[in-house]
Amino acid sequence: MAKIFVTHQIPGKALEELQAEHEVEVYEVAHGERIPREVLLQKIKGVDAVLCLLTEQIDAEFFDAAGEQLKIVANYAVGFDNVDVEEANKRKVWVTNTPSSLGDAVAEFAVALMLALSRHIVAADKFTRAGKYKVWEPDVFLGQDLTGKTLGVVGAGTIGSVVAKRAKGVFEMRVVYTGSKPKPDFEEEIGGAEFMEFDQLLKESDVITMHVPLTPDTRHMLSTEQFGMMKSNVIILNTSRGPVIDECALIEALKQHKVWGVGLDVYEGEDPEERERLPLENWNELISFDNVIMTPHIASATLEAREEMTRLAVDNLQAALRGEEPPCLVPGCKE
Ligand code: GLV
Ligand code: GLV
Repeated sequence: MAKIFVTHQIPGKALEELQAEHEVEVYEVAHGERIPREVLLQKIKGVDAVLCLLTEQIDAEFFDAAGEQLKIVANYAVGFDNVDVEEANKRKVWVTNTPSSLGDAVAEFAVALMLALSRHIVAADKFTRAGKYKVWEPDVFLGQDLTGKTLGVVGAGTIGSVVAKRAKGVFEMRVVYTGSKPKPDFEEEIGGAEFMEFDQLLKESDVITMHVPLTPDTRHMLSTEQFGMMKSNVIILNTSRGPVIDECALIEALKQHKVWGVGLDVYEGEDPEERERLPLENWNELISFDNVIMTPHIASATLEAREEMTRLAVDNLQAALRGEEPPCLVPGCKE
């Protein structure tokens, strides 16, 4: 019987299989809270495996506290910028994520934000609830059609390709994309997509959707210079990681009416490195704009995606505890 520590209660039936076979402690927290760092460091002492969330920082201090018997850290997310993979490699600890489990959920959410922004759905709902709708008028809440517009996909991975497919299939959008190199498979799957340099994509897109992992290269990928290149009717969607957008530069662009609308599911202030420095000041500014939709990092929050994420995390843990290489090792993780 291996010892497994789970840092937060999670939905999904697969966890029961783990509980039937191993000694599993699930740390229960109230909504809005997460496990305090000192408690985490104490709870992981001597465990064989940890199932953690993207809100936990998995670093040298974490591995020291756990001890040498630790075999695997299964991150309950597709992104793994919260894990120091190099430190894990040094200690021969496997790091896994839950790729492929949430592509549809996140992509559908990006599309939902795109639609809501193009037609001012959230602002119009607030207007109606506030009792401001008196009579039909031809010149209020004018939106923009999406049909035939250009969608710029930044990061044509699993999630980006589903967004592209939906946008092209449902709204007949032209799809352009950028990345380190052209992806013929992606183009074929979408039924036509044009690869272009990032700057060109910024200039041509009516909607820009971010689907890159957070790395030193992607941090502040959208900043003052990039906002300056965009069309004035641009809709920007971020369902990836907050620091991919320079929020201060975004606020400036919003003040200068340089963008049509912005859909944010993630924020710079969520980043552990930024949490202390950028508390809620940016949020207080962002909420003042009617053309910004802000959601609390819920793009992957569907019943189906969570079920599958739990399934994958449990598969990874079970494999590692049998001494086999887990199926979803993160890129850069050495066996
Ligand atoms: C969610 O943000 C994830 O990375 O899975
Ligand atoms: C958001 O709802 C907007 O008005 O763009």
